[in-house]
Amino acid sequence: MNQQIVLRRHPVGAIREDDFALAQGKVPVPGAGQFVTRNLFLSMDAGFRQWMSEGAGDNYLPGMRLGEPVQSMVLGRVSASAHPDFPVGCIVSARSAWEEYSLIDGSDLCTRLEVDPRIALREYVAALGPTGLTAHIGMRQFARPRPGDVLVVSAAAGAVGSVAGQIGRISGCRTIGLTSTERKARWLVEELGFDRAISREREPDLAQALAQAAPGGIDVFFDNVGGAVLDTVLPQLREHARIVLCGAVAQYESATPAPVYNTWHLVTKRATASGFMFSDFADEFPAAIAQLSDWLLGGELTSACQVYRGIASAPQAFCDMMHGLALGKCLVEMQAP
Ligand SMILES: NC(=O)c1ccc[n+]([C@@H]2O[C@H](COP(=O)([O-])OP(=O)(O)OC[C@H]3O[C@@H](n4cnc5c(N)ncnc54)[C@H](OP(=O)(O)O)[C@@H]3O)[C@@H](O)[C@H]2O)c1
Repeated sequence: MNQQIVLRRHPVGAIREDDFALAQGKVPVPGAGQFVTRNLFLSMDAGFRQWMSEGAGDNYLPGMRLGEPVQSMVLGRVSASAHPDFPVGCIVSARSAWEEYSLIDGSDLCTRLEVDPRIALREYVAALGPTGLTAHIGMRQFARPRPGDVLVVSAAAGAVGSVAGQIGRISGCRTIGLTSTERKARWLVEELGFDRAISREREPDLAQALAQAAPGGIDVFFDNVGGAVLDTVLPQLREHARIVLCGAVAQYESATPAPVYNTWHLVTKRATASGFMFSDFADEFPAAIAQLSDWLLGGELTSACQVYRGIASAPQAFCDMMHGLALGKCLVEMQAP
């Protein structure tokens, strides 16, 4: 059998574990041009929350349907194949679903990975997977950090944010992370080498905390949160600032997202705000993975993973990640067959 986690109900507001249900499917059999993966890791990605809501679906992805396996990035080993480029045994990263076995044709964000034996396989879901690639592409293509820049990262203790901030540190930026709790803020400074971290728990007035932490203004804002956080940062930009619009997690669970009022500062500061989707940069993946691997092996990049075990833990893992209970990359390690 093929255990799957399906969407039982379109979540409204804060997602709950009982929005999902465990189901049994059949192990798929590949037709010509297809292959099957035995999934080893499921990636818990905040962005997918967007496509779970009723009526969701946009230019990028269709909305998730009730009773169907939950869409997700996965890492798997090919267990059966009728596809010449994906033979049995190779390791693949793809957009598929929360399930033990996936039927894949290689077209949906599917990459055959060359795994470095010195690196733990889970890193290909985390620092070297979509998470790290998003941070790398956002920083390299859009933030364009220069030594001495003041970089602010929101949701900095999360999967993408923790890598983006460290890339800033490696690039010589003065790096400031925004997060929820003091525990996470301490981790950012003590373990990841951020220069400063601001927690909502200890410093609820973000405008004041930023003015103290970056009195000369902000050169780069890598934003994973949007809404009120983005609005608060805009007046504190320096001239020619770059804003990387990576995500807007504050609005994924809100029926009435907080408005952003302070866009005039983009004009007077001659700032650039760029949205991007990491999937448009597949040509950059090999070079980005090589650089992130070097940093990981050299100890310049720290990757923290919060690992849940077994497919039945995916609903809890996803809810914990959305609600700030995970540190670094949240993922599910599947049990061996
Ligand atoms: N553009 C792309 O191609 C791309 C690709 C991947 C991900 N993303 C985006 O990157 C962002 C991070 O995704 P991720 O998968 O790495 O998740 P993550 O950061 O590991 O987890 C989400 C974090 O968001 C924070 N958060 C949740 N609700 C919040 C709220 N209302 N206000 C402020 N912070 C809130 C929480 O951290 P705290 O405890 O610190 O608040 C939580 O841990 C998301 O916005 C996602 O959409 C974009």
